[in-house]
Amino acid sequence: MAPGAAHSARLALLALLGALLLPGSGGAKTSMWPLNAIIPRGGSVRVNCSTTCDKQNMIFGLETSLDKIEVEYGDNWRIFELSNVQNDSTLICFSNCEGVQTQTEGSLTVYSFPNYVKLEPPSWQPEGKNFSLTCKVSGGAPRAHLTMLLFRGEEEQEEWPVPVEEPAKVTFWRLARREDHGSIFSCRMKLDLRSQGLELFWNSSAPSKLQIYALPATLPHLATPEAVEVGTRRLVNCSLDGLFPASEATVHLARGDQRLKHTVTHGSSSLMATASIEGTVKEEGTRYLVCEITLADQKAVTTKNVTFYSFPPPSLTLREPVVSEGTTVSVECQAHGEAVVTLREAPAGPPGQRAQLQLNVSAEDDGRSFSCSAALQVAGQVLYKNQTQVLSVLYGPRLDEKDCPGNWVWPEGSHQTLKCQAWGNPAPKLNCRREGDGALLPIGDLKPVKREIAGTYQCQANSSRGTATQVVVVNVIYHQNSMAIIISVAAVVILGTVAVAIYVYNYRRKMQKYELQKAQKAQEEMAMKLNTPATPP
Ligand SMILES: *[C@@H]1O[C@H](CO)[C@@H](O)[C@H](O)[C@H]1NC(C)=O
Ligand SMILES: *[C@@H]1O[C@H](CO)[C@@H](O)[C@H](O)[C@H]1NC(C)=O
Ligand SMILES: *[C@@H]1O[C@H](CO)[C@@H](O)[C@H](O)[C@H]1NC(C)=O
Ligand SMILES: *[C@@H]1O[C@H](CO)[C@@H](O)[C@H](O)[C@H]1NC(C)=O
Ligand SMILES: *[C@@H]1O[C@H](CO)[C@@H](O)[C@H](O)[C@H]1NC(C)=O
Ligand SMILES: *[C@@H]1O[C@H](CO)[C@@H](O)[C@H](O)[C@H]1NC(C)=O
Ligand SMILES: *[C@@H]1O[C@H](CO)[C@@H](O)[C@H](O)[C@H]1NC(C)=O
Ligand SMILES: *[C@@H]1O[C@H](CO)[C@@H](O)[C@H](O)[C@H]1NC(C)=O
Ligand SMILES: *[C@@H]1O[C@H](CO)[C@@H](O)[C@H](O)[C@H]1NC(C)=O
Repeated sequence: MAPGAAHSARLALLALLGALLLPGSGGAKTSMWPLNAIIPRGGSVRVNCSTTCDKQNMIFGLETSLDKIEVEYGDNWRIFELSNVQNDSTLICFSNCEGVQTQTEGSLTVYSFPNYVKLEPPSWQPEGKNFSLTCKVSGGAPRAHLTMLLFRGEEEQEEWPVPVEEPAKVTFWRLARREDHGSIFSCRMKLDLRSQGLELFWNSSAPSKLQIYALPATLPHLATPEAVEVGTRRLVNCSLDGLFPASEATVHLARGDQRLKHTVTHGSSSLMATASIEGTVKEEGTRYLVCEITLADQKAVTTKNVTFYSFPPPSLTLREPVVSEGTTVSVECQAHGEAVVTLREAPAGPPGQRAQLQLNVSAEDDGRSFSCSAALQVAGQVLYKNQTQVLSVLYGPRLDEKDCPGNWVWPEGSHQTLKCQAWGNPAPKLNCRREGDGALLPIGDLKPVKREIAGTYQCQANSSRGTATQVVVVNVIYHQNSMAIIISVAAVVILGTVAVAIYVYNYRRKMQKYELQKAQKAQEEMAMKLNTPATPP
């Protein structure tokens, strides 16, 4: 703004001086047309210098450092062509009229378009921070008429004058806002020559895309098991929230320096990479996993240790697994590697590489399970592996009063459950048949009890180990013989009463006899005491 104004002021002043000088110069007036020309750089211009002097011996011409050719002339005018004009310059038309010199100074202004206008690529900018966008321009004149504008798409943002240095830089400061992400910025140079009777010229830089990012201060969350058993496959994942733009973030997930194949899922502001890690014998020991999330030129890294271990289950042996009652069985548990074992049934002691126990088995031990637990310390935690074996004790067959009662008395029509269970290993086969007709014993729910089932049954439990027998008597009380039962019950009651009465009578008689004998004895003792003198102790 300042240089342009100064220039115009100077031109005006020159014109004024010229006008003031003229009257005092013997009436001769020197003029130049055009007085202030503006031409493109390298172009040419014709300047008409004229004088009002009409004397024969007058001298007049154009003073310039530029190459000039006189192309036309009249009595008191001359036209000079100035060509290949590179720089601004001052032109002076002069005349000497009868020894009086007058002159008119004009200017020649060169305009040119820039060689280039550039916007330094803004690349990635962190959200919330001020950043600069620098427009660079080389060439372009006159600078007083040049301004630089920053555009966001087709929308003008700011305008600043272009300084004179070559090349010139104009810096725009902006706050990185999320909504500016992906916007296209450009620098546009404006050469406004409208005041010179020319046009408004524009030159623009190539568009440049602005990218804004936000990376949280927190590190990625790497979720991984601390220990992975050899031969197993486990999931690991790495996630980070608060990312912008999440879709542009990339993940690098690796075990040591070996990249892990992973799948990535993007949320609106988050990212998660999932992979699986497999324990291999080669890998045994502590390794590290690394998760690196990259956005813009920023990286966020998290590292975690994972221990790969092998832990075979303990060997639990029963010698022998199938035995007869009364045999001695030995149970032995052996650990592998650095594990220690405990046998749950064995007497408590410090866990070691080996645990064992011996026992005499009985029928109750059939189906008993023995378990051995191996413990291994991995990555600060104790892991367990258990092994279980079931003992099979051969016994039986057994039929007893508890599980196959020998006597049932039920009223007809009632609901009852008839139980008869044989025991043994191998499981015996039970067969109960009624004496006489060989009918089968109706084991199970009886709804209702029928009189037809009454009878005496012979039960046999057979297995490869032998035979067990039990007699089961089923009585069903039914209506028709209830009188007989009442009579027999009454008879029992009467007989009982008579028996009690007889007993009580006999007892009383015995007691009386005893009381008499006691009284008699007491009298005899009293008599003896009176006859013998007292003896000292
Ligand atoms: C040059 O200027 C003079 C004075 O104004 C004028 O008379 C003359 O015609 C001009 N020459 C041309 C070629 O225009
Ligand atoms: C024109 O200006 C340039 C720099 O702007 C300079 O290098 C050159 O010497 C000048 N030419 C003349 C003839 O003054
Ligand atoms: C960014 O610059 C503006 C003006 O230059 C200033 O007001 C603002 O505080 C700055 N903001 C930051 C985050 O630096
Ligand atoms: C600048 O603009 C002018 C006219 O608008 C054009 O002729 C010229 O090639 C442009 N220059 C550059 C470097 O773009
Ligand atoms: C991430 O990995 C951890 C540890 O392996 C797992 O517990 C969790 O379920 C996984 N989460 C997802 C979403 O896969
Ligand atoms: C991982 O293990 C190494 C030694 O094996 C140890 O120096 C390092 O501190 C561990 N890193 C973490 C994050 O626990
Ligand atoms: C096991 O039985 C054997 C022989 O029958 C006997 O000597 C031993 O004392 C028994 N052991 C136990 C623990 O009962
Ligand atoms: C193995 O045994 C240990 C100790 O007896 C017990 O704490 C653990 O829960 C058992 N594990 C399994 C998987 O049965
Ligand atoms: C059971 O065994 C006895 C003698 O070993 C045999 O007489 C009987 O028929 C057997 N009963 C069944 C149901 O196999």
